[in-house]
Amino acid sequence: MLGKMAAAVTTFACLVVLSNLQAYEATEVLRSRVNGIVHGTVYLNPKRPVPKEYKQITWRFNDTQKILIKKRTQTTESYPNDYFRSKLRYYKNHTLEIKQLEKQDSGTYRMQVEDSQSQETNELFQLDVYDPIPKPSVNITTRVNEDGWCNVTLECIVAATQVTYRWYRDEKDLVGENSSTLDQGWL
Ligand SMILES: *[C@@H]1O[C@H](CO)[C@@H](O)[C@H](O)[C@H]1NC(C)=O
Ligand SMILES: *[C@@H]1O[C@H](CO)[C@@H](O)[C@H](O)[C@H]1NC(C)=O
Ligand SMILES: *[C@@H]1O[C@H](CO)[C@@H](O)[C@H](O)[C@H]1NC(C)=O
Ligand SMILES: *[C@@H]1O[C@H](CO)[C@@H](O)[C@H](O)[C@H]1NC(C)=O
Ligand SMILES: *[C@@H]1O[C@H](CO)[C@@H](O)[C@H](O)[C@H]1NC(C)=O
Repeated sequence: MLGKMAAAVTTFACLVVLSNLQAYEATEVLRSRVNGIVHGTVYLNPKRPVPKEYKQITWRFNDTQKILIKKRTQTTESYPNDYFRSKLRYYKNHTLEIKQLEKQDSGTYRMQVEDSQSQETNELFQLDVYDPIPKPSVNITTRVNEDGWCNVTLECIVAATQVTYRWYRDEKDLVGENSSTLDQGWL
């Protein structure tokens, strides 16, 4: 009976180790976030070094479209997707440049590296393309106190949604001031 218990405990322990391993493998895929603006350019820089003797590198968009294939034995890469062909440029250091960005280019870019033993490693890039932020203006509101001193509030006005605000005074970041208005305590 005790022996059986011990066996059961051992099995359980092994299962825990196994599932930990699987979790480790699942998180092994490197992911980065990249932001771009419409008509702008971004660079997807792989963080994991590519083995010198790699067999083939494949880039995919949203896991549905193959957009670039680079075989080590061929000097030029191929661009199987018509839409992406004119927007991409591949560098020797494996950086992928995407230019003339459009909103629809937002999504996941997967770099799949096949090494000489046909082992595959993946790296993911989440690209988000935003409208450029128009130049903001600042509205200054002054209230005169009875003692003759003034209270001043600055309001940042920008024709865009989904923005975050940061305030700087003489190039110094006013850390934590993240709303559209800044009260006079800082002036
Ligand atoms: C690779 O080269 C490109 C173009 O010269 C450069 O912009 C990029 O930062 C380089 N990437 C890395 C990871 O050094
Ligand atoms: C790519 O994937 C993103 C996020 O899943 C989605 O919002 C977008 O519509 C997809 N783009 C295309 C062109 O399939
Ligand atoms: C500037 O602030 C004043 C006072 O709060 C307000 O009446 C005015 O509409 C603001 N101007 C703009 C462009 O928001
Ligand atoms: C000016 O600011 C002080 C301190 O925040 C406040 O007590 C006072 O009521 C303000 N005066 C006006 C006219 O807003
Ligand atoms: C703004 O800063 C406050 C604390 O200073 C924080 O609690 C809040 O989450 C921040 N809001 C945004 C949108 O970053």
